[in-house]
Parts: sequence; structure tokens; C-alpha cells
Amino acid sequence: MRIKVSSSILSADFGRLNEEIATVEKYSDYIHVDVMDGHFVPNITIGACVVWGIKTRLPLDVHLMIDNPEKYLEEFKEAGAKILTVHFEACKNLKEVLKRIKELGMKAGVSIKPKTNVEVLKPILPYADWVLVMSVEPGFGGQQFMESSLEKIKWLRKNAPKLDIAVDGGINEKTAKLCAKAGANVLVAGSYIFKSQNRKKTIESLR
Ligand code: DX5
Ligand code: ZN
Repeated sequence: MRIKVSSSILSADFGRLNEEIATVEKYSDYIHVDVMDGHFVPNITIGACVVWGIKTRLPLDVHLMIDNPEKYLEEFKEAGAKILTVHFEACKNLKEVLKRIKELGMKAGVSIKPKTNVEVLKPILPYADWVLVMSVEPGFGGQQFMESSLEKIKWLRKNAPKLDIAVDGGINEKTAKLCAKAGANVLVAGSYIFKSQNRKKTIESLR
């Protein structure tokens, strides 16, 4: 499978967000947007009103790290999300949430935290277009990759050969190779890309 890169703006300069996005647009496949509410994760970032302001020709891959995500699906659709990912741990009725995301015309993503067993996703896989394996505790950029995510990726690839399997957290040239070998086809990277001076070369090193 071709490896796709989703550049995570969490580590970009939010004061110059669209300029920052323009520096990675040509080399990335998606722009990854981290939405955090200070409840589901111990950090607060941005809401749909900021997503509205993002200008890019790339699809927006929006990662909701929030409680009760079902309340905000329409809002993020209108703000421009093309892929909308909710957390397994945050949904009371995950199947319904994924169905609704698809009904709204977006790709439906589900994410699991590092401590969540991947096998809980077995009944969910037919409803998901995209699984986002967290390889750090969600909340902050710049953390170290957890190797335990590799077994989860392998399990997912075995159980869903055509699924988009994304990995998020601690991705760099070295961990990208491990994830691709395990079966991931989408790599989400924030600090590795946005802290680099040569973003083209940095993104290419992930593929
Ligand atoms: C963390 C976010 C990530 C974050 C990854 O909770 O979901 O998308 O940007 O940052 P890095 O690539 O620096 O680990
Ligand atoms: Zn993310």
C-alpha cells in the first residue's frame, strides 16, 4: 500500500497557520487537525471555528479528542472535515456515530488510546473507513513513540486488509518504517515535520 502522510498542525505556529500549512501542502496527503477539549485529554486546542479558517486544497483529517463527539459531527462537516475521527473511549454508541459521520459524507474514523486493547474494534471494523492507532497518550505533541502500537497495527492489517490504518504520535524517520512494516498506510506526524527546516525532505523521509 502506498504510504500517505498526514501533517499534524499541532506543532505548527498557530499565529501563521495557513502559511505553515502552505509549506507542507505539496508534500503531504492530508492535514491533521487535533481538536482537544480539556476533558477527554488534559489539553485544550481548537474548535470548528478555527477549522473553518484553514485554507488548503488537501483533505482535512480531523481528530476529535473530546467527550460526546456525536454532538459536533455536523459542525465539523460544515467546517470542512473530510475524515472525521472519534475516540472509541469517548463514544457510548460508536456504531451509530460512525454511521452518522458517513451519512454526512465524510470518511468515518475511530481511534484508540495506547491502553485500549485493539480487539475491542473487531465488531466496529465493518463500520469504519479509517482506524487511528495512538502511539502516545493523546494530548500533546513531541512525545516518544510507544512500540506496543506495532502489534495493534499488525492485528488490524490482518483483520482488515483494505482498511486505512493511521498511526499518530512520535512518528519520525525510524518509527515510520516500523509502522509501515507492521501494516500502517497513513503516518500522522507533527513535531517531526513542523520543527524541521526542510519540510519537503522530512516528509519524504517518512515514506
Ligand atoms: C497528540 C496528537 C498528535 C500530535 C502528534 O495527541 O493527536 O496528532 O500532533 O505529535 P507528534 O508527531 O509530535 O508526536
Ligand atoms: Zn492527532
